Amino acid sequence: MLSGKTILVGITGGIAAYKICELIRMYKCANAEVLVVCTPNALNFVTRLTLQNLSKNNVAVEEFDIKDFNPEHISYADRADIMVIAPATANTISKIATGVCDNLLTSIACAFTKPILIAPAMNCNMWENPLIRENLNKLHCEILEPESGYLACGYEGKGRLCSLDKIFDKTVELLKYKLLNGKKIVITSGGTIEDIDPVRYISNYSSGKMGLALADTAKNLGADVTLITTTDVSRKYNVIKVKSALDMKSAVENEFDSADCIIMAAAVADYRVKEISPRKMKKTSDDEITLTLVKNPDILKDLCDKKKNAATADISASAPLIIGFCAESENLIENAKEKISKKGCDYLIANDISRKDIGFSNDYNEVTIINKNGGMKKLERADKKTIARGIFEEIYG
Ligand code: PMT
Repeated sequence: MLSGKTILVGITGGIAAYKICELIRMYKCANAEVLVVCTPNALNFVTRLTLQNLSKNNVAVEEFDIKDFNPEHISYADRADIMVIAPATANTISKIATGVCDNLLTSIACAFTKPILIAPAMNCNMWENPLIRENLNKLHCEILEPESGYLACGYEGKGRLCSLDKIFDKTVELLKYKLLNGKKIVITSGGTIEDIDPVRYISNYSSGKMGLALADTAKNLGADVTLITTTDVSRKYNVIKVKSALDMKSAVENEFDSADCIIMAAAVADYRVKEISPRKMKKTSDDEITLTLVKNPDILKDLCDKKKNAATADISASAPLIIGFCAESENLIENAKEKISKKGCDYLIANDISRKDIGFSNDYNEVTIINKNGGMKKLERADKKTIARGIFEEIYG
């Protein structure tokens, strides 16, 4: 099943390291070439001899363990088709997320441009720690969440390494299943920022998490990705930072001709301040002040109109698929249906922003995908990467 593929297994220092011996055997039985890199702590849980015997290769721990003419971390990064880090400790996750390269495993991960699959395992309180959640969100990797149950540290909770079958199946899927190969996907993300003066602005609560999950997932599915975002994002794909709705509009329009698909997940301000004050506005003796707002362009609608015009001029073959998002706090489906016909996009992803457990700033979402013919598909509440994958599978699957 995996012949011709090279899998780089990264093992970090957690008790679940012993399970990875079996995972290596599974990859070998499927005819994969297996390379193993361990953090020094991993070898406290499993021996180098065991891993060497199972993988039929030397096990690398230090930079100079790899006998090659290339720098060690680069040679392993070049040779492997996928890197599977399991178990991934909170420590290693945080290092990779922040670009720390203080051992061979983290250095390889930093230089790795192909898919990285991470299967965390740790104490349940560490898993719930907001700092670890934040670092996980920074990763542009496929993450197989740990499972709940009895933990080796004596606690009951979420933190056990997920099943080896799950890791194996996801490895096969990432190596073989490239739903978006050859597609250029442009995604907008975050809330636009409309200046009032040099120190104040109008914006909204969009964190950019949904757009980032779409971009990371599209990348993992083989797409050439451009993310146009108002938030600070550091990724190996093309990221264009913008601020206002007008900036976002011109960045998206620049991508229109080369895109196969444009997804507007950004929360774009409908209005901006008519005249931005060049100096900080002073407090006056008046109890009220008035800001005059003017309408921003509707980027999504303008893109759809451009596509319609291209169709009229018979150059529609190259026009991108256009997908909008729809943030509603009441009558979700009814309002979304009205919006898709007003804007004219191919699909609209409706999410309920009145709920606290999904939507704005949350790690989770629940959406209904509506197509221009009125067809609907609901994706139940899940983390935003799972929702993103569900959207691509519904549209391109
Ligand atoms: O960023 P997160 O914290 O993860 O939150 C995600 C999200 C809730 C912001 C996201 O899932 C979402 O719903 N994004 C769309 C928000 C929005 O602006 O919805 P809307 O119903 O007001 O607009 C409909 C569509 O028109 C959107 O695709 C929007 O990008 C687009 N639009 C809106 C106004 C405007 N002037 N120009 C536009 O292009």
